[in-house]
Amino acid sequence: MDLLLLEKTLLALFVAVIVAITISKLRGKRFKLPPGPIPVPIFGNWLQVGDDLNHRNLTDLAKKFGDILLLRMGQRNLVVVSSPELAKEVLHTQGVEFGSRTRNVVFDIFTGKGQDMVFTVYGEHWRKMRRIMTVPFFTNKVVQQYRHGWEAEAASVVEDVKKAPEASTTGIIIRRRLQMMMYNNMYRIMFDRRFDREDDPLFMKLKALNGERSRLAQSFDYNYGDFIPILRPFLRGYLKICKEVKERRLQLFKDYFVDERKKLSSTKPTDHEGLKCAIDHILDAQKKGEINEDNVLYIVENINVAAIETTLWSVEWGIAELVNHPEIQKKLRHEIDTVLGPGVQVTEPDTLKLPYLQAVVKETLRLRMAIPLLVPHMNLHDAKLGGFDIPAESKILVNAWWLANNPANWKNPEEFRPERFLEEESKVEANGNDFRYLPFGVGRRSCPGIILALPILGITLGRLVQNFELLPPPGQSKIDTSEKGGQFSLHILKHSTIVAKPRVF
Ligand code: HEM
Repeated sequence: MDLLLLEKTLLALFVAVIVAITISKLRGKRFKLPPGPIPVPIFGNWLQVGDDLNHRNLTDLAKKFGDILLLRMGQRNLVVVSSPELAKEVLHTQGVEFGSRTRNVVFDIFTGKGQDMVFTVYGEHWRKMRRIMTVPFFTNKVVQQYRHGWEAEAASVVEDVKKAPEASTTGIIIRRRLQMMMYNNMYRIMFDRRFDREDDPLFMKLKALNGERSRLAQSFDYNYGDFIPILRPFLRGYLKICKEVKERRLQLFKDYFVDERKKLSSTKPTDHEGLKCAIDHILDAQKKGEINEDNVLYIVENINVAAIETTLWSVEWGIAELVNHPEIQKKLRHEIDTVLGPGVQVTEPDTLKLPYLQAVVKETLRLRMAIPLLVPHMNLHDAKLGGFDIPAESKILVNAWWLANNPANWKNPEEFRPERFLEEESKVEANGNDFRYLPFGVGRRSCPGIILALPILGITLGRLVQNFELLPPPGQSKIDTSEKGGQFSLHILKHSTIVAKPRVF
């Protein structure tokens, strides 16, 4: 009897092993995964490739494994796409399939698990948020309503820099003043509000909380707990800080901006010209029951990050390149002086008459892309890409920086040379009409803010160059342009001191 039992047990085990092998073989056959380094159990490729998956490291991996590659970061699949053809497939041809977003443990906190617009999956909620945000933020009417405000903000930066005695001698960190300008540009649109002084306590609080949010979200320090769930308990402290920052930040938006605006509009009709600002439209949508109060606050959160920081980083990169390329700066100044006349201040409609200014903006966005890997995309279901199987819920990174800096596609891409956009690349626009150049992405999840960002960049850089000679500080021939990358951001490592010598007209 015992022998029979043993025999049966062994047979059952044998059958189980055969079934397991067959299933795993079938699975292997079913999934033809993209190439990549060989993963080890639990950690995947994490120990091989490390935490810092920036655009340059991912470019090196693409050179080794090809235009589509797969990294297994613990339990997460990460697909990196590095050719214009595959970018077109992800963003355009299969835009619906790859139109969702991944969030990690930290972004789950900051977006309330996708109650916002930027980090929500492609579907009903995203469509509603995009529709509600379009009229108040993303139309030419908004540009025309607010462009005078942006011009006034840029004029105020010029005045303040002229007044700072050290600006023309030892130099100033101009970024600080430009940061307030960018807040004002966007807070005028959102709340019809602006800040007068950099030491305004509310502005300082807002800036500090936004800074904390960015630092915590863009850091690589929490990767381990995100990639390997059994390590998540060790992240408890980090996630607690994230939750606190998120709560304090949303409360600040609510108490000092949203509720203030509600109070104001209940006592008198919106702003002095009877025009609504963005939050009035958003609150209308809430009143109609289309969105809830949390959604309202997450819209404010999204604009604080997506609009203010990206544009500020791009302005900062533009200034750095102009300081380090005095001949380009001179040529730009000459264009403005010749087209508008010396001292005639650049306005939004003027930017269209200044092709070299536009080329400088485009070249800045090419070489120093603020979001070099776009915002991570995701496929909700199993999908096919470039002949490979992509498992559901993979994080898809399009290495847009490499598409725009690959010497196979661009002439001397490492050079800052705006002329390329007037010569061999004159047909290439920033709106994604060429899949080699996608600083704002393209397709369904592309940046709707491009309509605001381009004129703001043109006005700001134009006004600075026409009013000042921008130079490195005494004793330096160039300013440091080392990069600092985050989960998907790229900004200048050191906020440089620059000398701004006022021009006399
Ligand atoms: C120079 C400035 C800017 C750059 C370089 C930039 C770049 C980008 C990029 C690369 C994406 C992701 C595209 C993708 O994943 O396919 C994006 C998304 C987005 N941007 Fe911008 N952006 C800028 C300014 C702005 C401004 C001013 C606003 C708002 C006023 C804005 C709002 C958004 C929003 C809401 C999204 C999410 C779209 C979605 O998920 O459907 N951005 N941006």
